[in-house]
Amino acid sequence: MTGQHPAFIPPARPIIGEAEIEAAVRVLRSGKVVQGPEVAAFEQEFGELVADRHCVAVNSGTSALQLTLLALGVGPGDEVIVPSFSFAASANAVRLVGAAPIFVDIESGSFCLDPEAVAAAVTPRTVAIVPVHLYGHPAAMDRIMAVAQRHDLAVVEDAAQAHGASLNGTPVGAFGTAGCFSFYPTKNMHSLEGGMISTADAGLARTLRLLRNQGMEQRYANEIVGANMRMTDVAAAIGRVQLTQLAEWTEQRRANAKYLDSNITGMITPPVADAARHVYHQYTVRVRGDRDAAQTRLQELGIGNAVYYPTPIHRLKPYLDEDGQPGPWELPETERAAAEVISLPVHPTLSADDLDRIVEAANLAGGAR
Ligand SMILES: Cc1ncc(COP(=O)(O)O)c(C=O)c1O
Repeated sequence: MTGQHPAFIPPARPIIGEAEIEAAVRVLRSGKVVQGPEVAAFEQEFGELVADRHCVAVNSGTSALQLTLLALGVGPGDEVIVPSFSFAASANAVRLVGAAPIFVDIESGSFCLDPEAVAAAVTPRTVAIVPVHLYGHPAAMDRIMAVAQRHDLAVVEDAAQAHGASLNGTPVGAFGTAGCFSFYPTKNMHSLEGGMISTADAGLARTLRLLRNQGMEQRYANEIVGANMRMTDVAAAIGRVQLTQLAEWTEQRRANAKYLDSNITGMITPPVADAARHVYHQYTVRVRGDRDAAQTRLQELGIGNAVYYPTPIHRLKPYLDEDGQPGPWELPETERAAAEVISLPVHPTLSADDLDRIVEAANLAGGAR
């Protein structure tokens, strides 16, 4: 390596292998390309990840959230509790159905919704909670479900980043009224674009199937007003290939995270709650010093990195009030996380050498000023 600039390690590396390409070509040659046998098989097979709940495939994780809220009858006048420290999709889905997101703070360790803050935010207008299993760490679902049951609220898990994560042995997507997954290319598994909804409620699953397809079960016998949020069979075929690899990739992510946990000393490594199985969609550290300097140093050392998310949702333009101000939210842990976090590469294709370079760079950059 002397004198040679070491290769850049990207923050994420979507996998599109020969098996995915062959699956896509096979479907294209079959002529059955939209919501056909591959989608049905993918729904069936994905059930194994969510305690055999019903699964409904759609065209994205955002569609999964939006359709679920629609199917539950959430709309104007309703309040939905959601973390501000997430990707905007978590709150966009609430706004897209005409309801009001109520932003609640996170726990400092897990970066997920704080159950006590959730309980304190419930009002007579609250109809649902959207816990986000951020970075692949499960939210405190036992305590969040207790709040929901006390107030008779729906729970829509945003599991976009957490395929295969669990708490006390229960997989995410199998706690709430429904769970919503994303298959965007950088996720722990993908279908190019795609999403999946899991639910134990057969009636809800049927409504979701209608809503994703113009309200039709039988062609031209529309039962309700619906959208077109169908998954293609090409996407499903790719998703099925990826699903067969997910367990192995997850173990690799977890092993990578363990190595980083044991060797990074210059930054604060991510804690894991008791009984939680973290699947490390992101490996997210906190930097106490100058984060911009740390990011620059990492970049110089060839280590891809990113901040998820530099601006909490309540500070994004569509969520400001008429005066251009964030609402009355008090979210100290959210603000602190947004200022301190950096995600380092943890993807399953990292080599032992890559991991050593990440450790070395993190320890150097942690002291960067
Ligand atoms: C937390 C979270 N929720 C929702 C989504 C939306 O998923 P998609 O991009 O598939 O619409 C994403 C990912 O992009 C996400 O990270």
